Amino acid sequence: MNKFAAKPYLQRIWPEFGNDVDLSEFPFNVPAVRDLQQIEFHADVTFFVGENGSGKSTILEAIALALGFGVEGGPMSIQLLDTLGERSALARHIRMSRSFKRPKYGYFMRAESFFNVATYMDKEIGASWSYGVPALHARSHGEAFMSVLLNKFRSDGLYLLDEPEAALSPNRQLAALRAIDQLVQQRSQFIIVTHSPILLAYPNAKILAFDGSGISEIAYEDTEHLAVTRDFLNHYPRRLEQLLAPDLDSD
Ligand SMILES: Nc1ncnc2c1ncn2[C@@H]1O[C@H](COP(=O)(O)OP(=O)(O)O)[C@@H](O)[C@H]1O
Ligand SMILES: [Mg+2]
Repeated sequence: MNKFAAKPYLQRIWPEFGNDVDLSEFPFNVPAVRDLQQIEFHADVTFFVGENGSGKSTILEAIALALGFGVEGGPMSIQLLDTLGERSALARHIRMSRSFKRPKYGYFMRAESFFNVATYMDKEIGASWSYGVPALHARSHGEAFMSVLLNKFRSDGLYLLDEPEAALSPNRQLAALRAIDQLVQQRSQFIIVTHSPILLAYPNAKILAFDGSGISEIAYEDTEHLAVTRDFLNHYPRRLEQLLAPDLDSD
């Protein structure tokens, strides 16, 4: 990494677990957290992948908090009530190295709380957010997310997104990929938790896989996401037969 480059804004994080940390308690007992060495971020896009429960959201939220985002997600300036409890303990034990250049804009999107942030923005900030009409809540989750992505995300930004594909149709995922690329070309950096084989295909990226043995870099072609999806789509009649076959052991 060129240490004089403006990007990545967030270059690296590492843990500093002192004596006050109990490694047998959440969040420190999550394998990806307990074994956290350091994470070096790609200047453009860094993906976190891994099984449900492997600790991706825990680490993304800790990074967001350490950067100063509100725990409910949303733009850096929005500080909503802390509902994460112990999850925020990790943020206090994360150290980070950052670029000399600060991003001009930031946004943290938690999958679960996009609704709360939309409420806040509709109610408290209203028209000044210039999302246009109708208000975010009058749109579907996917429409609201695309509206934030297309109208609110700016150049020179640092964006943390937790499973953005949850809201998006396959076509919208392709549109999101294009929007992300345009922001990357305009000096933005992304850290994205995803299960989407479409988003993961983005070429200017580093994929970090979370598993029982920690966090390691993996090539797109080696991800389970690509292998399982491709196998299923290429052979779905046969795969469905196998999956849905009656269990001969039962009754
Ligand atoms: N508040 C909490 N208290 C205790 N355990 C939790 C809490 N939140 C999450 N966990 C556990 O921590 C692990 C990692 O969770 P999470 O980071 O949400 O996983 P991922 O985002 O990779 O699916 C899971 O086993 C989950 O059950
Ligand atoms: Mg998660």
